Formats: sequence, structure tokens, C-alpha cells
Amino acid sequence: MRTFTITDRRTKVSRVICRRQVLSKALPALLQGYGEVFVFSDETVWNLYGRLVTRALGSVKVHTMPAGEAHKTPETLLSLLAAMAGAGLHRNACLVCLGGGVVGDIGGLAAALYMRGIACIQVPTTLLAQVDSSVGGKTAVDFCGVKNLVGAFSQPAYVLADPAFFATLPARELRCGLGEIVKHGALCAQIFDTLEQNRDKLFDLSFLADIVPANIAFKAGVVRRDAEEGGLRKCLNLGHTTAHAYELLDGTLSHGEYVLIGTFIEAEIARSHGGDGAYLSRLQALCLAVLGGMPSLPPPEEAARVACLDKKNTGRGRVVLTVPMSKGEYRLLELESTAYERELGRIGRALC
Ligand code: NAD
Ligand code: GLY
Repeated sequence: MRTFTITDRRTKVSRVICRRQVLSKALPALLQGYGEVFVFSDETVWNLYGRLVTRALGSVKVHTMPAGEAHKTPETLLSLLAAMAGAGLHRNACLVCLGGGVVGDIGGLAAALYMRGIACIQVPTTLLAQVDSSVGGKTAVDFCGVKNLVGAFSQPAYVLADPAFFATLPARELRCGLGEIVKHGALCAQIFDTLEQNRDKLFDLSFLADIVPANIAFKAGVVRRDAEEGGLRKCLNLGHTTAHAYELLDGTLSHGEYVLIGTFIEAEIARSHGGDGAYLSRLQALCLAVLGGMPSLPPPEEAARVACLDKKNTGRGRVVLTVPMSKGEYRLLELESTAYERELGRIGRALC
């Protein structure tokens, strides 16, 4: 078992626990002090794991949502809040979010809003959610065509990361999680070396179980120093400006796959802004090894238009990118949207 602690500026402590059998061995004990327990999940995850939850906790109040990013909406958030109110939850209740990043982001926001904040325990069931979204207290729903536009910083009391959940994950979901792991590799030399040295087993469940704690440790270390993204935490947006633009325009792939594409493209942009070419090629090779090939991309002018709406920007038609520069080094790059569009056009032509 490994535990990581994050304390944010409101001195709220969040503990991430990596261990096996979280549902039967960890969750019941952690829920002891709460007045009521309410579980939020998606239909796919609940069908797979609901029985284990009720075996561990007895009969609990549950609300499920349809699976997938298309349902990461204010409507889903409101229906969860209505279910919580309908169940008569009080301020000493705990919301358990059992699922991937979509369930975690919506549930975390509902916990932050209900009665101005109740406790939340995240039980992430995807690789992506374990290494990234459940850690660090970012919660949100998509709104008005912008990813994660409405949300809050709110740390969960606990995150319980158990690699046993990976056994039922489709390979594609492993790829999505690897997208955020490669992003961590672009920021942390040690993770990069581990990934390069294990290129032939990136999809092995035992390898993935082994690298989850190092990824959580890296992210927790960043969040501990900058929980609300005043500066350092912006590094975690590496590849994401382009990823979010393509995700909103195209939407046929998953978040982690767009992160791999965004990291590849922004590595190429970094190459023309003083980045270390040899290293960037190695990073791009890692992106492609996980992705399996580059899909066709939306038109540059559309991507630039959507990227201008990204909440990471400062406005004035400029696009802010966190780009990889050399091993373990990144840079914040602010480009005129026309310059960004030109870069996307150049890269797109070179890929054809
Ligand atoms: P997801 O929650 O949609 O899960 C992907 C799919 O896997 C879903 O169909 C789900 O039902 C299924 N699933 C989940 N666990 C399973 C299991 N153990 N076995 C079988 N199927 C399972 O997507 P995701 O990739 O986990 O998360 C993506 C979301 O996370 C995006 O909305 C993204 O914006 C968000 N995100 C948030 C942060 C953050 O800091 N809050 C960071 C990165 C990503
Ligand atoms: N996934 C980006 C962050 O947590 O800041």
C-alpha cells in the first residue's frame, strides 16, 4: 500500500491510497464517520462493480448516469444534485464517486456545490482517472461548447486507486490513460525513461499497475505546490490546448487519445521554438507507439478558432500552450491565433 497526501491552501487534506481490494477493505472503514453515504457511478461501471459495492457497504443510495463524455453536462450534474436532495442528504454526508474521469469530475463538482460542500471519496476505475483526474481536486462539466468551463477546485477527502479495476477496461481505455502518463513523461524525466525502456509492455496490466503510484506521486507533488493553478500546475496542461480543440471539433476519439495527438502536435510546435529536436522526436515516437497511428485532423482554421475559446487563454485572440522543450522541461508559449493556425497547417501538411 502507498499513500500520498495533498494539503491545499484552505488546509483541506486529501489522501490518495494505492492498494488492492479498495471496495471491500478500505472504503467501509473510511466511511464510518459520515452520517450518510451516497454513491454516484455510470451505468457501465455500476453494472460491473455495483454488486461488490453493495456487498461491502450494504444497501446504499445510488445514482447512475449514462457513460461517456457526451453526458458531462450541467443536466447530468443537476440530476445528480436532485437525487442527492431527494435522498435528503445532510452536510455530514459523503459522496462516493465510482467511475472514470467523467463520473469523478461531475461527482466532485456536485459534492463541492451541495450544501456548499460535502465530503467526497473518489474511487477511480479507469487508468486515466487513477493517474490524473481523481487526484488534485479539479472538478467540472462541459458547458456552451467549452470543455470543463464550469467547475470548482475541491479536494476529495480520499482517492482510492486499485489496479484491479483495469482487468475489465477495454484496451482503448488503457490507451487513454497512457495519454496522460506520456504527458507526465514529458514533464518528468524518470517517468519518460521508464516508458521508453518498457515500450514493448506499455499495455501490460502488471506494468501499468506498477507505474500508477509514480504517476500519482508526480501529480500530487505538483498539486501540493500549486493546488489552484496559479503557476506550476499549468505544466499539467501540456498538449491539452490542441487536445481540447480537436476533442470539441471532432469528438470521435477519447480525451486521452486527443492528449497524445495534442502532445505530438505541440512537440512539433516546440521544435520551431527552440526545443531539443532529438528529444522531441523520441517523445513523438512514444505518442505514436501508444496511439498506433495519427488520425486525420480537423482543419487548422477551425482548431485555431476553438483553441481561442480555451479557458487557459488570456483573451485577445491569442492561444496559450504548455509545450515540451527538452527532457523534463516545458515552456508556456503564447501564440497569435493566426500563427497557431499556420503551425497547425504546416504540421498537418507534413503528416499527410
Ligand atoms: P470516462 O469516465 O468516460 O470512462 C471511459 C469509459 O470507461 C466509460 O465508458 C466508462 O463507463 C468505462 N469504464 C470506467 N471504468 C471501467 C472499468 N473498470 N471497466 C470497464 N469500463 C470502465 O473517461 P476517462 O477517460 O476515465 O476520463 C475522461 C474525463 O476525465 C474527461 O472528461 C476529462 O476532461 C477528465 N479529466 C479530468 C482531469 C482533472 O484533473 N479533473 C484530468 C484529466 C481528465
Ligand atoms: N489534468 C490537469 C490538472 O489536473 O491540472
